[in-house]
Amino acid sequence: MDPIIEIGDLSFFYPDGKQALDSINLTVMPGERVSLVGANGAGKSTLLHHLNGILTGRGRVRIGSLEPTKGNLGRIRAMVGVVFQNPDDQLFSPTVFEDVAYGPIYQGCDKGTVQGRVEQALAAVHMRDYANRISYHLSGGEKKRIAIATVLSMQPEILVFDEPTAGLDPRARRELIELLAELPQTMLIATHDFNLVELLTPRTVLLYRGRVVADGATATILGDERLLTVHGMR
Ligand SMILES: Nc1ncnc2c1ncn2[C@@H]1O[C@H](COP(=O)(O)OP(=O)(O)O)[C@@H](O)[C@H]1O
Ligand SMILES: [Mg+2]
Repeated sequence: MDPIIEIGDLSFFYPDGKQALDSINLTVMPGERVSLVGANGAGKSTLLHHLNGILTGRGRVRIGSLEPTKGNLGRIRAMVGVVFQNPDDQLFSPTVFEDVAYGPIYQGCDKGTVQGRVEQALAAVHMRDYANRISYHLSGGEKKRIAIATVLSMQPEILVFDEPTAGLDPRARRELIELLAELPQTMLIATHDFNLVELLTPRTVLLYRGRVVADGATATILGDERLLTVHGMR
């Protein structure tokens, strides 16, 4: 089997000169679920933004057989669904239906297909009855699930999450973890939520100052107090 995500020797500097990624290597196989952990500023979000061409650094990024170059961006974005940390960055239409329909309409789907995709995506996040609700008025946990539906409606093979449980109360957090466990896609999840990591992803990658300092079984990495302490996670 070929990897679905292949990152080789990837480095990235922000325009102000700050180096956020330093020679990152990461390979993810189809169907794998991987957590990306690391202290604030470790480079998690910056790395995720390279997966669908929001940012472009020096080095190799391959999604399936595609590189996220300008000409491929449409196909890459159909393959990689990114769920941002703040759902308000993802929800901007008056109703839930329009938010979830946005991607398939943009992809050129006909009306019937759009309708079907929206129903399917809302069902996947257990929000079937919310199509006519106003996104702006939903709770944090509900907004999060709709944001996930806006990505699922494009039928991506890879789901990328930036701190999906941040800001949710314990119950919404638990429900979200259960929901993610039902989804079949390959997942890469940046998170500080060790509960999520333990329950959801058998593999964990630890970033520190833009470098991968550990990559292995979640139980091994979360069990290594010294590793976590040295890299600002304790
Ligand atoms: N737009 C930006 N301009 C300059 N530096 C940035 C910008 N965004 C993030 N950084 C810096 O890049 C590093 C990595 O940030 P980030 O990827 O957001 O880390 P994380 O998601 O792990 O908290 C940090 O030092 C951060 O301050
Ligand atoms: Mg971040």
